[in-house]
Order: sequence, then C-alpha cells, then structure tokens
Amino acid sequence: MSEDFANVYQDQARAEAYSKLEFPGTYFLAFRDLPELITQHVCGSSALDFGCGTGRSCRFLRQLGFETVGVDIAAPMLERARSLDPQGDYRLLPDGDFAELAGRSFDLVLAAFTFDNIATMERKVQAFQELRRVLAPGGRIVAVVSAAEIYLNEWASFSTQDFPENRQAKSGDTVRIIMLDVEDRRPVEDILCSGPAYQEVFERAGLDLIQTHQPLGRPDEPFDWVSETSIAPWTIYVLGHPSRRLVPRSPAGKTLKS
Ligand SMILES: C[S@@+](CC[C@H](N)C(=O)[O-])C[C@H]1O[C@@H](n2cnc3c(N)ncnc32)[C@H](O)[C@@H]1O
Repeated sequence: MSEDFANVYQDQARAEAYSKLEFPGTYFLAFRDLPELITQHVCGSSALDFGCGTGRSCRFLRQLGFETVGVDIAAPMLERARSLDPQGDYRLLPDGDFAELAGRSFDLVLAAFTFDNIATMERKVQAFQELRRVLAPGGRIVAVVSAAEIYLNEWASFSTQDFPENRQAKSGDTVRIIMLDVEDRRPVEDILCSGPAYQEVFERAGLDLIQTHQPLGRPDEPFDWVSETSIAPWTIYVLGHPSRRLVPRSPAGKTLKS
C-alpha cells in the first residue's frame, strides 16, 4: 500500500492546467448523468464538494441550485478556485481533519475524482466515515471515481499506452495516466481501487450503497469517443446512511431471539 503517496495536485503548474478544464471529452461522461441522479436521490439544497480542486465541481453544483462549500487539501488548487470564482466558499482542509465541518449538515456530499488520490483502504474508510458524519439524515454521498479500466485503455481525454505496468497493478497500487486535454503532460499518479475494494470500503465506513452507475458514451455525442462507447471510464456510487433494519419484537416488547 502506498502510505507515502504524494498528491499530484499540490503543484502550481498542475493547478494552473487543471483550472482550464471544464467538461471536455471523457470528463463530460463523469458529469452528464449527475443532474438526473441527484434529482432522483437528493432532497434539500446544501452541498459539500469534497476535493473541489480548482472549483469546477463546485460551480457545477451551484448551477444545480446547491449552496456549496468546497474543501480540498491542496492550497494551489484552492487559490485557482478562488480567483476563478471569488463568490465561492473554498476552504483548505488539513488531511483527514474534518473538525471545522458540522455534523449532519449536508444534504449532498459530492466527491468527484477525490478518492482516486486517497492512498490506502484505511484512509478511504476514514474519509468516508467523516463524510457520513457530516451528511444530513436522509442525505446522499455521490462519489465519482475512476473505474479500473480507465488505466488500461485509450480515451478521448486520456492515454495509458506508456504504462503497460498498470496491467499488473492491484487495488492500492499506484497507476499512471496522461491527461490529453491540458498542456501539462506529466503523468498523473492515482491509486487503483477496484469495484469490490470500494464495496469493502463502504461497508467498513457504515454506508449503504444505493446505486452504482457506469456512464457510457453515445455515438451521437459531439466527441471523438475512443473506448467510451463500450467501456465505462468512471463509476458513480450513490451512498447513504444505513437504512434502519427492523428487529422483530415479541408482543411484550422483548427482542425475539432466532
Ligand atoms: C482530480 S481533482 C478533482 C477536482 C474537482 N472535484 C473536479 O471535479 O474538478 C482531485 C482533488 O482531490 C483533492 N484531494 C485529494 N485527497 C484529498 C483529501 N484527503 N481531502 C480533500 N481533498 C483531497 C486533490 O487535492 C485534488 O484537488
């Protein structure tokens, strides 16, 4: 496991490049279905954007009508977010320290690509436990993560052909990918996490998995899709507090033993 994994976004040049991204190519698929999923699952209007980066996902949530707080551990990313969007609420969050966020306060928590950069199962579990703590009763966490397949194929917005070693990677290992929509072509380093590994994380964090969605590109969309129409690059998880499980009771109010 990569305990010493360094967040590539703690970097001025990367922040500068990232701030110019909106929703090109493969990224379009990460956001295309979010409005419908959010309408279907979320009531209320307060949102936390966990790992807001340069603010793209915050601005997206605000356009959907959410009062949004964006938090991130990378100061260079937040600087860009604030200069692009001076009205926005962007806060630096020391790694793993959610103390300044009140419990049970957000109807929606979005984490768009953030968990790709959180090393180790343990840290992912801790972060999801904290997100569960700040989630309002009945609220929903929407986590957009890279599918394992993104690191093995070519895409409108990404290339992995220089990294054949990605094929041997297991959950918890570092994988590399090049972003094609920005000038900065240094490889991005992420942590691989398979679908079953995420399910284990959710279980350990005490969250119910409500829906899993894997968006595919459609031939009529205005992008030169490469693998996107047949392989999903992203996985979107909708999560919530555990539903109360009814324990059968005897007429006298004692719990029945099976
Ligand atoms: C790929 S960027 C995505 C930014 C934004 N969500 C978007 O869609 O444009 C991932 C962000 O997650 C942040 N991040 C990584 N680990 C984090 C953590 N433990 N807590 C908060 N943010 C984190 C990184 O600093 C980076 O800005």
